[in-house]
Amino acid sequence: MKKVLITGSNGQLGLELQNKLKDKYELIVTSRADLDITDTQQVTELIKFKKPDVIINCAAYTAVDLCEQQGDAAYKSNAIGPKNLAIAANEIGAKLVHISTDYVFDGEGNKDELGNIRPYYETDVTNPQSAYGRTKLEGEKFIIQNLNKYFIIRTAWLYGEGKNFVRTMINLSKNNAKVKVVNDQIGSPTSTAELANMIENLIETEEYGIYHGTCEGYCSWYDLTCEIYGLLNINTKVIPVTTDEFPRPARRPKYSVLENKKLNELGLYKFKTWQEALKKYLEKENV
Ligand SMILES: NC(=O)c1ccc[n+]([C@@H]2O[C@H](COP(=O)([O-])OP(=O)(O)OC[C@H]3O[C@@H](n4cnc5c(N)ncnc54)[C@H](OP(=O)(O)O)[C@@H]3O)[C@@H](O)[C@H]2O)c1
Repeated sequence: MKKVLITGSNGQLGLELQNKLKDKYELIVTSRADLDITDTQQVTELIKFKKPDVIINCAAYTAVDLCEQQGDAAYKSNAIGPKNLAIAANEIGAKLVHISTDYVFDGEGNKDELGNIRPYYETDVTNPQSAYGRTKLEGEKFIIQNLNKYFIIRTAWLYGEGKNFVRTMINLSKNNAKVKVVNDQIGSPTSTAELANMIENLIETEEYGIYHGTCEGYCSWYDLTCEIYGLLNINTKVIPVTTDEFPRPARRPKYSVLENKKLNELGLYKFKTWQEALKKYLEKENV
């Protein structure tokens, strides 16, 4: 049985992957308390001792606004951590799956040959606008510099078990007759269940490189909230607002739709639409 090391195992994706992979692989599951990925010595020793075939890095500093003030901590977890894992993976010949983000792009979008805005491809130029995006991009670069057997997966608007936008909006509806939600940021909400399916398929291949991995289709946070409330028959009124009306410390991309170009070309996994994945999540979660 192949061995798979999951770091950041108490996060949304870490929890999903534990469930998904537990019958198929020998799992080595580590939370921050067992393995701080910023600790070079700890990472090297554990990986050399356990010798996993695959390492899946689910650990990251994901509080986007806090990253603006906590730049050092964000850099350590989002850049140095992946570097440590890449060097150790290279030493034992393991594959590394690392999760990155749509926030590596500036959100101004690219134009197709007709001049219409199109989703970002894996090969498009990056230009992060926030400390979170910059540190995640540094993490990507360190991996590419130190390892050949990597899968870097850029995903977006993730929700699963834990704190996330979907749960926040459901909770807000319990005490509010109306909620204001931003309607001028466009992206692709993605369930951890769908992302875990992609990872399960990918780790059996040698098709290394950068991937985009998001649910199909796109919407605004406002659209997403309307869909959640519609599916759950929640009557709270949803009021669209602009980003300018809702200032936050970190700049968000306005348009960060990713095309799963490489994944679809190789036929490795077809993501559900964001609406299908959301419906499945809400049925399963029983919220
Ligand atoms: N959430 C999103 O909307 C989103 C969007 C795009 C990409 N992503 C990426 O997807 C991945 C998974 O995200 P997620 O939503 O599952 O994240 P999450 O729920 O915030 O979980 C991240 C986990 O990493 C742990 N961690 C942080 N620093 C660590 C360190 N130095 N050593 C070990 N563990 C550490 C955290 O532990 P503590 O709680 O102790 O800090 C937490 O358990 C991340 O790489 C994230 O950047 C997420």
